Amino acid sequence: MHTGELRVSLHVRGLRNRSTANKDTTICLGCVLFLYCFEDVLQGAQVIFRKPLAESLDAAIKQVFPDKTQSQIKIIDAGAGTGLAGLELFKLGYTNIDALDISQEMLNEAKKKNIYKKLICAPLTEQRISEIETGEYHTMISTGTLAIAHVTPEAVEEMIRMVKPGGLVCFSMRLSHVKEYEEKMLELETTGKWETFSKEKIPYSEKSDLPKEIHAFIFKVLQN
Ligand SMILES: C[S@@+](CC[C@H](N)C(=O)[O-])C[C@H]1O[C@@H](n2cnc3c(N)ncnc32)[C@H](O)[C@@H]1O
Repeated sequence: MHTGELRVSLHVRGLRNRSTANKDTTICLGCVLFLYCFEDVLQGAQVIFRKPLAESLDAAIKQVFPDKTQSQIKIIDAGAGTGLAGLELFKLGYTNIDALDISQEMLNEAKKKNIYKKLICAPLTEQRISEIETGEYHTMISTGTLAIAHVTPEAVEEMIRMVKPGGLVCFSMRLSHVKEYEEKMLELETTGKWETFSKEKIPYSEKSDLPKEIHAFIFKVLQN
């Protein structure tokens, strides 16, 4: 899905090359998101956070839903991209996973992994996503997506809406991005929408030019 056009300078995030130097170029928003994520894909071999995040979520799910089998746990991977977080959960035995992403190109890649039941192309904003029922999922995982360039703090309420009371919302967040979201996260706690289940730092990368650690948040939904 291409949701509009942006005028961008290709020198942003090092995408400039000699032929486009100093020229503004019009490219679609879907392509911008693809390029943003492509950078992460290029780094994919060097980042190591998805596996420990999935393992923490697996432990939390077993604690919160002790009577459910893994195939009974319905999961939404929000900002699924090419499916790398879903894949880690799938390896742990979860087989009832849907993918949500703003980019159809990303979902086309994710589909090739054969790990998702449903692929939903929609933007995660403060608006209700009509394809998703309130409380449809036991758990949400979201990796690399809660960054201001992608998803506003207000959209976190829509994330909560998708998850059952008693269910879990799990996401990674770069340490440098926390300040953008902490007010909203606290507000959701004080208004009784969710409570903190766990907050830890997990290894992100061993490469010297990448962050060493990233936050792993798990919240328990109380009300949606
Ligand atoms: C950095 S990638 C991370 C992908 C994947 N979760 C991973 O760990 O590899 C961010 C993803 O979020 C998607 N995205 C960005 N903004 C979004 C929004 N508002 N709603 C839904 N998806 C969004 C992008 O298309 C992209 O696939």
